[in-house]
Amino acid sequence: MTAQIISGTEVAKEIREELKQEIAELKAKHNLVPGLATVLVGEDPASQVYVGQKEKTCIALGIYSERHDLPVKTTQQELMALVDKLNKDARIHGILVQLPLPKHINETEVLYNINPKKDVDGFHPVNLGKLMIGEPDYIPCTPHGIQELLVRSGTKIDGAEVVVVGRSNIVGKPIANILLQKKPGANATVTICHTGTRDLAFHTRRADILIVAAGKPKAITADMVKEGVVVIDVGVNRIGKSESGKDILVGDVDFEGVKEKAKAITPVPGGVGPMTITMLMLNTLRAAKLAAGLI
Ligand code: GUN
Repeated sequence: MTAQIISGTEVAKEIREELKQEIAELKAKHNLVPGLATVLVGEDPASQVYVGQKEKTCIALGIYSERHDLPVKTTQQELMALVDKLNKDARIHGILVQLPLPKHINETEVLYNINPKKDVDGFHPVNLGKLMIGEPDYIPCTPHGIQELLVRSGTKIDGAEVVVVGRSNIVGKPIANILLQKKPGANATVTICHTGTRDLAFHTRRADILIVAAGKPKAITADMVKEGVVVIDVGVNRIGKSESGKDILVGDVDFEGVKEKAKAITPVPGGVGPMTITMLMLNTLRAAKLAAGLI
């Protein structure tokens, strides 16, 4: 069997068209333009690319975008003061502080300081708590994108054995929580594997749906999956540069080997990545509607 390739690029395009239309209607009917502020501290090249992509997508969809680039030596107080200012700014419905932050900054304290109503990343403990009890205001973007990819590719989630590899606060833990809810597009049996797991392959071989966010190239090879599995590869690993100087990206899954056994698989790039940004746009639109009392 050669797998169906689940194109995040295509699914993201479809959702962006829907969002663009809704944003135009919001402007026409309510004179309301959703606004997103992005905050980048330092000069990490990958983060610069991500923030640039977020800004570009905002503009393409009709979202007001405001970018704050701060020097690497920015203090905790300065960053907190900017978040305070954005919390009070009526044009700004969503605030995104790009992670990771420089080591001298307390990330948790910064995320706690974002008004949960403007927390379009869904990283504030209030929003993560609401997600856990099945009443989310904002679903974190990457896990939400993963769920959409599964649903829109026609994957049966209800009753499926889902195995998540990786327990980060921004992917592993939230996707596990989303897929175990008693709701449409969920209701799965979920196992989370991590660096303390004794026999990773024992678990991954049982998976009907395998979600890999391990941060390690080739963490999953063909011998570790069963025939007919659906694989979502969240990894983004830079393994060198091409002749033209572009980063060479690979996921966490040995794509060439695993695609021969899988029913469906996401590529890297062009899988989960475009979905993350799209779900950020969806959350920003939602934030504007919530602020205006429209939902
Ligand atoms: N760094 C890597 N992924 C993300 C994300 O989804 N949001 C933010 N703010 N930072 C990130």
